[in-house]
Amino acid sequence: LASFAGCTPKAKEPLKVGIAIYKFDDTFMTNYRTEMESYLKSLETDDVKYEITITDGKNDQATQSEQIDNFISQGYDVLIINLVDLTAAGAIIAKVKAANIPTVFINRQPSTADMALWDKITYVGAKAEDSGTYQGEIALDLWNAGGLDKNGDGKLQYVMLMGQAIHQDAALRTEYSIKKLTDSGVEVVKLFEERANWNRDEGQVQMASAIAQYGDKIEVVFGNNDDMALGAIQALKAAAMVIPVIGVDATAPALDAIGLGDLAGTVLNDSEGQAHTSVDKALALLAGDTLVKEYWVPYVKVTPANYEDFK
Ligand code: BGC
Ligand code: CA
Repeated sequence: LASFAGCTPKAKEPLKVGIAIYKFDDTFMTNYRTEMESYLKSLETDDVKYEITITDGKNDQATQSEQIDNFISQGYDVLIINLVDLTAAGAIIAKVKAANIPTVFINRQPSTADMALWDKITYVGAKAEDSGTYQGEIALDLWNAGGLDKNGDGKLQYVMLMGQAIHQDAALRTEYSIKKLTDSGVEVVKLFEERANWNRDEGQVQMASAIAQYGDKIEVVFGNNDDMALGAIQALKAAAMVIPVIGVDATAPALDAIGLGDLAGTVLNDSEGQAHTSVDKALALLAGDTLVKEYWVPYVKVTPANYEDFK
């Protein structure tokens, strides 16, 4: 009787964890996925092992959907999904539900309606409004210290480099960074606002174009993430210009740039905290726990005064 395959205790087999990332070539998501993997490994015991597969969606939803189909057909126990395209959420939730595979969505938040489609799904993220507000606070402090109004017209002329249109973080950071300033009574003038899709090279190209059009009129630059902010700094250096640039994420190169005086500030987007929370929630779903629909990991403002704490 002991030889019946169906009688093998489940705990002795590795649990198959499938992790689908929107694309590997993304600084923040690379830190995130590396941390999920090492954290899962650290949770292994003699009895419980994890077989972890991480896929590269190559920024293409069709590719990612196929990878998720493979996880499903190979009987994965639990999935963690960083969607390429949020509009695909409904179809993917229908599939994991049909296969009864609990799933944690990360970084790109499906709509409330999609999240209501099944009880064994949850979302782990960070409140993008807060990251924008912190960016605005960093600019406001510089403004109040008299450091930004180069032309002395009492208005703040700014450049905004935005992330991918599909991502809630892009719209919310763009809105709330400026809202903090205007709510505080600062008059702003938007000189230039373009997408650089979270990407450093695109950030550099867009910033070069902003400089070509507005040159010395630019008084501050916001990047929806650090990679685009670092690209903007490269373009400013190439034009021998020094203008405060503010990012989000607090990646290692961004912290270095603060140390060098190149980046005025950033906001910690806690990839480690989010990685641990998403793994914890995936294991909780697997254990049959009932979860709420959203878990939030806090952002932290990072400036020259405290950046060393984050290294
Ligand atoms: C991060 C970006 C990253 C994006 C990926 C955002 O939360 O701030 O750096 O490119 O997520 O989806
Ligand atoms: Ca001005």
